[in-house]
Amino acid sequence: MNSAEIRRRFLAFFEKRGHAVIPSASLVTPDEKGVTNATLFNTAGMQPLVPYLLGKEHPAGKRLVDVQKCLRTVDLDDVGDKTHATFFEMLGNWSLGDYFKQEAINWSYEFLTDKNEGLGLDPARLYVTVFEGDSVAPRDAEAAGIWREIFKKNRVDAGGDTTQGEAGRIFYMPAKNNWWEAGENGPCGPDTEMFYDVSNKFGGKALTHAEYVKADEDRDVIEVWNDVFMQYEKKDGRIVGKLPKPSVDTGAGLERLTMTMQGVDNIYDTDLFKPVMGLIHDSAKNFDLRSARIIADHLRSSVFLIADGVIPSNTDRGYILRRLIRRAIFKMKVLMLDQSVGSEIISQYSEQYQATYRLDKSLIDKIFREEEEKFLKTLVDGRKEFDKGTDAFTLFSSYGFPLELTVELAKEKGIEVDIKGFNEKFKAHQDLSRAGAEQKFKGGLADHNDPMVLRYHTATHLLNQALTDVLGDGVGQKGSNITAERLRFDFSHGTKMTDDEKKRVEDIVNAKIAAAIPMNHIVMPREEADKTGSRHAFNEKYGEQISIYFIGNDLATAYSKEFCGGPHVTNTSDLAGPEGKWKFKIQKEEAVSAGVRRIKAVLQ
Ligand code: ALA
Repeated sequence: MNSAEIRRRFLAFFEKRGHAVIPSASLVTPDEKGVTNATLFNTAGMQPLVPYLLGKEHPAGKRLVDVQKCLRTVDLDDVGDKTHATFFEMLGNWSLGDYFKQEAINWSYEFLTDKNEGLGLDPARLYVTVFEGDSVAPRDAEAAGIWREIFKKNRVDAGGDTTQGEAGRIFYMPAKNNWWEAGENGPCGPDTEMFYDVSNKFGGKALTHAEYVKADEDRDVIEVWNDVFMQYEKKDGRIVGKLPKPSVDTGAGLERLTMTMQGVDNIYDTDLFKPVMGLIHDSAKNFDLRSARIIADHLRSSVFLIADGVIPSNTDRGYILRRLIRRAIFKMKVLMLDQSVGSEIISQYSEQYQATYRLDKSLIDKIFREEEEKFLKTLVDGRKEFDKGTDAFTLFSSYGFPLELTVELAKEKGIEVDIKGFNEKFKAHQDLSRAGAEQKFKGGLADHNDPMVLRYHTATHLLNQALTDVLGDGVGQKGSNITAERLRFDFSHGTKMTDDEKKRVEDIVNAKIAAAIPMNHIVMPREEADKTGSRHAFNEKYGEQISIYFIGNDLATAYSKEFCGGPHVTNTSDLAGPEGKWKFKIQKEEAVSAGVRRIKAVLQ
C-alpha cells in the first residue's frame, strides 16, 4: 500500500464515521503578538486546533479528521537514522467534546487492523501502552479495560497483568511516555500509544513489561499511533483545571505508517523518499547513506517551508530554512553530487506532492537556487580564507564555513584541525548567543548600556511580581519589550484589569522603588536554581549554569527573583531618576490575544 492510499483510507474511514475532513493548516504558526514562547512551526497535528480543544466551537463540527504538515527541529541530530525526519505528515482524528475513550480506541484498532477499510495489520503484532497515573491524574484503567475487551473480542491473547510481571500486550507507563502536552500552555492529558512489531520479531507473543521496554528501545516495535485524552488545561507548566469538555486528539505519523505497511525498517525506503534517495544514489560519486538521508530529509522540509512562505534569512523561521538548505548542500558536496542535483531533488518533491498539496514549483526552485548561490559563494570565500591560513573557528563564525569542510580541506593538505580548540570556542560562542537570545526574550533588542533601558528592565521585574501580588498566581509572563522610552509587558490574564487593580500594582512598584532595595545577582547550577522558586516564564532552554537576579538583601527573602541574563540597575531607588522624583505609571492596559494582556508603562 502506498502512502497516498494510506492518507486516502484514513480520511475516508473517519469521514464515514461522521468526521468532517479539514485541510492541513500552514506549517507556519500564526505570529501571536508579544507571545515570545509561541513555537515557530506546527510540531503536532493538534497545534492549529488548540483553541477548539479548549472549548471554542469549530465551524466544521465536533468530529474532524485531517492530515497536518508538521516540522520538528529538536531531533535534528537524529535525522538520518531510521525513523527521524524534520518534516512529516500527521494523520489525526478529533473529537471536540464529542466521543471519548471508547470510540477513539475502538476506531484506532479497527483502522489499524481492518483489511477493507483500514490497513489490515496483524492484531497479534500490536502492543499498547496506557498511562500509569501520578499525583496529577489517575491511572487510566479505563483505557486498559477497553483494550482488553477489544483483544478478547478479536481473539487476540492479551495475556496477563503486566504490572505483576506477567506477559501481556497492555503496558502501564509513566507520564514521561504516556502524557501529552504541547509546551507549557494548553490542553493536555493521558494517552494510549500503539506499537507494531514491523519485522515480526516476536511472532505475535505476549511480552513482559521489561521485554516491551527493551523492544521499544531497540526499535523492534514502532509507535504507529497515539490517542490523547484531553482532559486538563495547563498554564505556565501547571495544571489549572479540567477542560469544559473532554476531547480526543490522535496522531499517526504517515512516514512511520508507510514504513510499517511497506515492510521496510526505515522511512527512507518508503515511497515517500525512494525517488529522491534513488536520484542521490545514482548521481553520487561518493555515496554515504546517512548523508544521503539528510539531503533527502532537509530538502523535502525546505520545499514545504518555502511553499508556506518562509524565505531564507538569519532570524527565526528563515534561519531554520537557511540551515536546512545549507546543510543539505554541504552534504551534497560530501557525496560529490553535481550542483544541478539540488534543483532536481526540489523538482521531484514538488511534483510528487502536487496531488496532495498545492506547491508553486517554479517559486520553490527559484528561492532554493538563490540560497544555493549565496552559500556556494560563502564556500568560495571560505576556501580563500582557508588558503590564507585562517583558523577553523573564524572560518565558521565569520564566514559560515562548516567545520566538516575545513577538516576535509585540511586532510588534503596533511594538516590537522584542532577540533578540541574549535569545540571550546564554539561552546563559548553558543553560551554568548544563548545569553543574547535570553536578552531578546527579556528585554527586546534594546541597547543594554542605556541607563533608561536598565531602569525599565528592573521595573519589568518589579511589575511582574506586583501583578502576581494583585492578580494572583495565574499571571505568567508572555513577552517583554523594552526601549529607552517605555516598557511593554505581556502576561496571561483572562480579563481587563480594573482601575483599582492598576492603581494597586503601581503603588506596589512605587513602594519598592521608595524602599531603595538592592538588586543582586547570583549564578548557580540548574538543579539548585530550580529549587529557589525563581520565575522563569519561558520555554527557553537554559544552560547548566543559571543566572538569577533578585531584588532584596538575600535570595530567601527577596521580593522578586527571576532567571535572567541582566543587566540591571544596582538599586531600585535608581528607578526614581537622577532627582528621585519619577514615579512608575501604567499608561495602557489592553488585550493582545485571548487570555493575554499587555501593559505599557513609563517612569516619569
Ligand atoms: N498530539 C499527539 C502527538 O503528537 C497525538 O503524538
